[in-house]
Amino acid sequence: MSDVVSYAREGNIAVITIDNPPVNAMGYSTRLGVWNAIDQFAADGAAQAAVLICAGRTFIAGADISEFDKPIQDPWLPALVQKLEDCPKLIVAAIHGTALGGGLETAMGCHYRCAVAAAKVGLPEVNLGLLPGASGTQRLPRLAGVQKALDMMISGKPVGAADAHQNGIVDTIIDGDLRAGAVAYAEKLIAEMAPIRRVSRLPVDGSQATLEFFAEFRRQMQRQARGFFAPEQIVKCVEAAVTLPYDQALKQERERFELCKASTHSAAQRHLFFAEREISKIPDIGKDVAARRVESVAVIGAGTMGGGIAMNFLNAGMPVTLLEMDRNGLDRGLGVIRKNYEANVKKGRMTAEQLEQTLGLIRPTLDYGDLANADLVIEAVFENMAIKKEVFATLDAACKPGAILASNTSTLDLNEIAAVTRRPEDVIGMHFFAPANVMQLLEIVRGARTARDAIATAMDLAKRIRKVGVLVGVCFGFVGNRVFFPYLREAQRMILEGVAPDHIDKVAWDWGMAMGPNAVVDLSGVDVFYKLFSEWKGRPDDPAFCRLTTVLNGLGRLGQKSGRGFYKYEGRDAVPDPEVIEIARQEAAALGIAARTIGDGEIEERLFYAMINEGARVLEEGIALRPGDVDVIFANGYGLPRYRGGPMFYADTLGLKRVYDGICKYRAQYGDLYWTPSLLLEKLAQEGSTFAAWAKART
Ligand code: 3HC
Ligand code: NAI
Repeated sequence: MSDVVSYAREGNIAVITIDNPPVNAMGYSTRLGVWNAIDQFAADGAAQAAVLICAGRTFIAGADISEFDKPIQDPWLPALVQKLEDCPKLIVAAIHGTALGGGLETAMGCHYRCAVAAAKVGLPEVNLGLLPGASGTQRLPRLAGVQKALDMMISGKPVGAADAHQNGIVDTIIDGDLRAGAVAYAEKLIAEMAPIRRVSRLPVDGSQATLEFFAEFRRQMQRQARGFFAPEQIVKCVEAAVTLPYDQALKQERERFELCKASTHSAAQRHLFFAEREISKIPDIGKDVAARRVESVAVIGAGTMGGGIAMNFLNAGMPVTLLEMDRNGLDRGLGVIRKNYEANVKKGRMTAEQLEQTLGLIRPTLDYGDLANADLVIEAVFENMAIKKEVFATLDAACKPGAILASNTSTLDLNEIAAVTRRPEDVIGMHFFAPANVMQLLEIVRGARTARDAIATAMDLAKRIRKVGVLVGVCFGFVGNRVFFPYLREAQRMILEGVAPDHIDKVAWDWGMAMGPNAVVDLSGVDVFYKLFSEWKGRPDDPAFCRLTTVLNGLGRLGQKSGRGFYKYEGRDAVPDPEVIEIARQEAAALGIAARTIGDGEIEERLFYAMINEGARVLEEGIALRPGDVDVIFANGYGLPRYRGGPMFYADTLGLKRVYDGICKYRAQYGDLYWTPSLLLEKLAQEGSTFAAWAKART
């Protein structure tokens, strides 16, 4: 038969089993194997019906994403799905784990679908900048209705078996062993002389799917789909499902799928898919390095970050000891945590009972003695080296051997902090992002002496608390902030040159950023950036560097929290403030900076080239392991739209020569201080290479 697909018979039922670990992706050999198995089944006079089932942890998780960059090898998936449907004998799909994308499409090619209760089904292609291209846009509306199909395809979120059953996607839920249950179900269908149900022949219920319905759906999807190419293509396919005969609508799906696949958006989103999986691969930390056992956690400081950090572990069911300086700090911190959970209860995300259980996992304390048994301690006290050193010296004395001592510092030198302990190998950075209970990103900072198993533990924990953990090295701002600051720097410099803050933000927003740079500073707090920049030892020797942060901070314009910053706030609405333009004009005059007319093209280049150049430096210095790691950081922590793929991928799509030339142009205009091209960027640009090719050559 085939390496990955086997054929067997149980009585009058054929069992076709796919075994292509880890996730039974529908690569070429799997498609060929299933194709041949269908032929075998059709020719097998003793088999009246067939069950299509998967070995291992899941049903088919989709087409093989790594094949999208290569020419398609026949049989391709749409033809295979059609072949299943055309089979003259009945076929039942038996689903466990996750039937995703091409996996669900394959299941919808079958005549009936059964699933275990824990299974999930979905069409997540949108997350890869694609649409379901093996008839999913046509079959799902036929089974589940137009609204449900659109919701599933635009959100990309899978639904549970019960939901799928209720919506006609799954015909029956199997208790107990799936294989036995599916065979029994197929026997029952044969006994009942159930019809061969071909989904493509079912009608689409278009009664609700009016022009107004689609207009309203488009309006509602705007917020999550802004800028993305694929969602609109999906809606168009579903409109075609409603208005056109199946074959014609399917032709549209094919054409639109090819458009999506060829788009830079899809290339970017597929890049992030693999980059997000690659982050856990650390060259010198193989599977032989065992993570330490972490069952209990302590957090020092119950402020903005400490409270959020604690919530991550509580959500994972882990007990957390929370230590503060005094009773007030503790009560305040606990109060905020409780309020956050109460909001979850109000939104129906947890019950009041679960809230109390979760809060019951917290052990508040003022005494370091209570940390003696903690497996992991995360420090989140004020960003001040002297205080951090004091805390770490105390931890060194109080904690058991082997406990991991982590700091949430966003800029300070981890090696200096580690040096006050007798166990620098146990000291690591765990840099969460605000709000720490919400933001996905976690930078894991490797100090000069951090032990490999401490890193393995932190990477492991990131997964346990559902964070995207990226390993970075020690430098001011690590990877994220270090690469983000030049972007802020250029934004503020352009304001001094006469561009309105909201105009800069609009250019960044139009490019796809969730918020513009000035709005971000207002959100995080002007004072927060002021403090960061003023305590930065290597701060650029330039009075104009982020000057407006200093001035606005001095004026008490701290951003959203004080109702004024780069904007003024009316409720939550940011309103451009002429006063800021006047402040900037005066500052520019004092600094001898002349006003210029700056076009949108230059605004965009200066914001993103500055980011790319610093990203290249971070790679050159080995602070980030791979270009993809920088991209993952920006896609998960800084509101960069996934369809750009991250700053390094974006640079590759522009062409590094173009970026390099642009940077040289700004160097000629603004001098060496900020615009000296990174050596790596220069080298790759001259070779006509890309960051992706550079990364590949190093593996
Ligand atoms: N193609 C190729 N490789 C895949 C894959 C796929 N569809 N899905 C997962 N993998 C690989 C991962 O890259 C990873 O490889 P690695 O071990 O070398 O890093 C390995 O399988 C395991 O994946 P995860 O680490 O993600 O495992 P999890 O257990 O955490 O998650 C999953 C499993 C939920 C199935 C998750 O992998 C996933 O969401 N996969 C993608 C599903 C998807 O998007 N399907 C649609 C594909 S596009 C399509 O079908 C087009 C069609 O409409 C024509
Ligand atoms: P915060 O001021 O909100 O909270 C600090 C808390 O630590 C306060 O509750 C304070 O009482 C407590 N504290 C101070 N010294 C202490 C000590 N010796 N022992 C016990 N508790 C002590 O500060 P925030 O914003 O939570 O920052 C904490 C750390 O997280 C800093 O290192 C900061 O750089 C970092 N960080 C902050 C981010 C943010 O956006 N606020 C983002 C990422 C990291």
